[in-house]
Amino acid sequence: MIKVSKTTLIRTAAAASVVLLAGCSQEPAELPVSFSKDVMPVLQQHCSECHMPGGVGEVASGLDLSSYEGTMKGTKFGAIVRPGDSTSSTISILIEGRADPSINMPHGDRPPLTKEETDIIAKWINQGAKNN
Ligand code: HEC
Repeated sequence: MIKVSKTTLIRTAAAASVVLLAGCSQEPAELPVSFSKDVMPVLQQHCSECHMPGGVGEVASGLDLSSYEGTMKGTKFGAIVRPGDSTSSTISILIEGRADPSINMPHGDRPPLTKEETDIIAKWINQGAKNN
């Protein structure tokens, strides 16, 4: 028996179910993340209320997270997504709590994103931040 961690088991189970669904015999290296199906719901739940045209976050920073185009455009200071590199992408730095607590997102007393949610964003960025 090979010892596997709980995360590995969960990942394997998730990957296996996709393989079953796809009817494919090869396990994908990593599950492909979809902007519309996986990323957008997270942004809608935690961000777009303030980061949509006219929202407090959009007015203050210029960042509109209610669409792919707005997400890629970033703030008035520039991009917050660096395709292929979640480590240095501002959006991941803020939602993973890697910045000063005063500027972490979501703003104010909102609950932080779960690890699953920040992982979805990170994977999407690392897979090229596609409009898929
Ligand atoms: C309650 C309102 C609110 C919510 C919810 C919110 N933001 Fe913001 N956001 C703001 C405001 C206001 C600013 C302007 C900067 C400031 O005052 O800190 C901002 C600024 C930003 C910036 C620019 C930071 C910078 O240093 O230029 C980013 C990136 C950002 N938000 C991402 C997000 C993400 C991602 C989410 C969801 C996980 C989110 N925000 C949720 C209000 C919000």
